[in-house]
Amino acid sequence: MTTKPFTNIKACVFDAYGTLFDVDAAARQEQASLGDNWKAISDVWRLKQLQYTWLRSLQGNYISFWNVTEDALDFALETANMNDAALKKRLMDLYLKLSAYDEVPETLRRLKAAGIKCAILSNGSPEMLDAAVNNAGISDLLDGIYSVADVGIYKPHPSVYELAVNGLETSAAHISFQSSNGWDAYSAKDFGFNTIWCNRFSQAEERLPATPDFQITNLTQMLQLVGI
Ligand code: LAC
Repeated sequence: MTTKPFTNIKACVFDAYGTLFDVDAAARQEQASLGDNWKAISDVWRLKQLQYTWLRSLQGNYISFWNVTEDALDFALETANMNDAALKKRLMDLYLKLSAYDEVPETLRRLKAAGIKCAILSNGSPEMLDAAVNNAGISDLLDGIYSVADVGIYKPHPSVYELAVNGLETSAAHISFQSSNGWDAYSAKDFGFNTIWCNRFSQAEERLPATPDFQITNLTQMLQLVGI
């Protein structure tokens, strides 16, 4: 792992779900319906959602992240014996309004004030990302929102990471990429970004090629690593 802060960072690119936006927020808000099991259901929902992105990418069967998210929720609710159309609709609606983690707006503001561009690079569909960004009130702080919808394959395919390089017109060597998903941070490092794993959930290190340059536990800690 690197020990010195990055130098010459011109843009910071963020993963969306789990990094900027709290993926448990929808199920947490439906605790009254889901019961004590709400976190386990949320975990299955998230895990299945990611599995389907990887499986569909291998199959060459892309569908939008909104549809993947819905399929994963169907699986999670059926697993919990909670097939309920109204509950499912409420959870999907809530997924469009996931709250941002507390430190997100201030971190973006400080990066922007230092002249660093900020962008999102996500599996999310453009509609989902716009909804989450507007709900969190951070649209003015972003220079780009890049979605896998433009390439029709999910992370960690390198063509997804390439979207940020092309969109920001900034080489990977001048970009710092942040993700709370370990596999995403490792893959972004393998692609060539300077990489910070925001390991919010104290996950074990991945056994994948390339190790992120830094591990932090909340995004405020990235500021000094990118030279602020
Ligand atoms: C995303 C998923 C990986 O936002 O969290 O791309």
